[in-house]
Amino acid sequence: MEDIVLRELNEKGEIPNSLEFAEQHKFDVKAFDGVLKSLLVTDYVALQNLDVSEIELTEDGKKAVDQGAPEYRLVSLLKVGEEKSKDELVKEFKDDKELTLATNKAMQCKWIKSSKTSITRTAEEVKDETAKALHSLLESKDPNKHDKALIQDLKKRKMIQIKQIKYYKVSKGNSYKTKRVVEVADLTAEMLSKGTWKDTAFKKLNTNAMGKEIATGNFHPLWQMRDEFRSILLELGFEEMKTDSFVESAFWDFDVLFTAQQHPAREMQDTFYLSEPATCKTLPADLCEQVKKAHEGGSFGSIGYRYKWKEEEARKNIMRTHTTPCSARVLLLLAEETKKTGKFKPKKYFSIDRVFRNEATDATHLFEFHQVEGLIADFNLTLRELMGIIGEFFKRLGITNLKYKPTYNPYTEPSMEVYGYHPTLKKMVEVGNSGIFRPEMLLALGLPEDVSVIAWGLSLERPAMIHYKLDNIRNLLGHQVPLKFLKNNPIFCLP
Ligand code: PHE
Repeated sequence: MEDIVLRELNEKGEIPNSLEFAEQHKFDVKAFDGVLKSLLVTDYVALQNLDVSEIELTEDGKKAVDQGAPEYRLVSLLKVGEEKSKDELVKEFKDDKELTLATNKAMQCKWIKSSKTSITRTAEEVKDETAKALHSLLESKDPNKHDKALIQDLKKRKMIQIKQIKYYKVSKGNSYKTKRVVEVADLTAEMLSKGTWKDTAFKKLNTNAMGKEIATGNFHPLWQMRDEFRSILLELGFEEMKTDSFVESAFWDFDVLFTAQQHPAREMQDTFYLSEPATCKTLPADLCEQVKKAHEGGSFGSIGYRYKWKEEEARKNIMRTHTTPCSARVLLLLAEETKKTGKFKPKKYFSIDRVFRNEATDATHLFEFHQVEGLIADFNLTLRELMGIIGEFFKRLGITNLKYKPTYNPYTEPSMEVYGYHPTLKKMVEVGNSGIFRPEMLLALGLPEDVSVIAWGLSLERPAMIHYKLDNIRNLLGHQVPLKFLKNNPIFCLP
């Protein structure tokens, strides 16, 4: 088909009517249409959209041409003057309706008389003008070549309908050639080595085409958030702590952090206890001794909790409920280093990792989430320094005008909740928790008396939900996260 079209254009310059052309050459119209479209895309041809209306006979119209119009068929059933009942006549028609239409038309022509039940022929000579008119329409299907009133009438009688036929005028396109040159998409090594690229036609590059979607892995939005937090903390001079122990002993998660063994946070409904292995093998003996002293009281200038501290309770394995045990572990290393060198070196540490709590899950709670934690160990640190570093940290997250509210943590005194203004919720929301570690904890770890440690912590999910405008935490972390959210979310960038 392609060759024939291109040859025709070469000889005649254009094809005035694509439909007629297809008919002449016995082409399948649909396939021919496809060929024209593909020639158009490569600019071999230009197409001008045209349409004509064409008269088409309906089933009733065809029947009138073959067997006569209904009114003519009706009179032909009667001799002049003869009367027949409608019940008998209807047998010759499709249904009552057809007989009624035939009767009405025949009466209009003054061919018959009709009563309620019978019909009598009155006219002697009758001519089937309707069938004749329909015949004449077949000679030219163009409705404009016929009497308007006649077309209207036949349309109303549902004997014809006017169909819109679309076709093209085909002419040469800008890249017209007498024969299609097959263009190749890719330049191959062989074409280069053999030099055949010189005689090869290449497809034009379509720089507007969407590239093929590449199936790559994506950074989880929460992970991007973590990276952003990490770089802020690194810029502020913090070192990253080791956080690779999801399973901790209660000793590190609670006891070292001066949390009494009766504290409600340690209960099973808040903390996941491991059944296998249920306890840890060893605890650092010296530290154990110091922690016991802190809890039982009478040491470190503290009356303690005044109960009998039990090592069995401390040995229980749990899923860590916060990352503060990681802070306790680095503080122990710092204390040991100080003892070894005889000199305390101020330090700033941070961590971002997963923690676990036995919570009923809902739109804002999961039983695992991430905590960001920071601490500074130095001489003479006060609330002033704590508020200063927290202010700087949140400023870099885009949260300013912080407010503080006193709170209670077993391991810090004083302790403060941190509130920041939420621009979407238009109110103050809790963004973190903070405090100065208690001497009961720091002295038990072996740090020098004049060293203080200020610290703060927050969840990673809260700012991520604010940033991604999520109201359900399950859309951010866990098995319900829509994959599309992971694929489509742009690289996260703090203000
Ligand atoms: N561990 C606290 C929490 O889980 C956060 C915190 C860290 C508070 C350090 C004070 C100091 O909420």
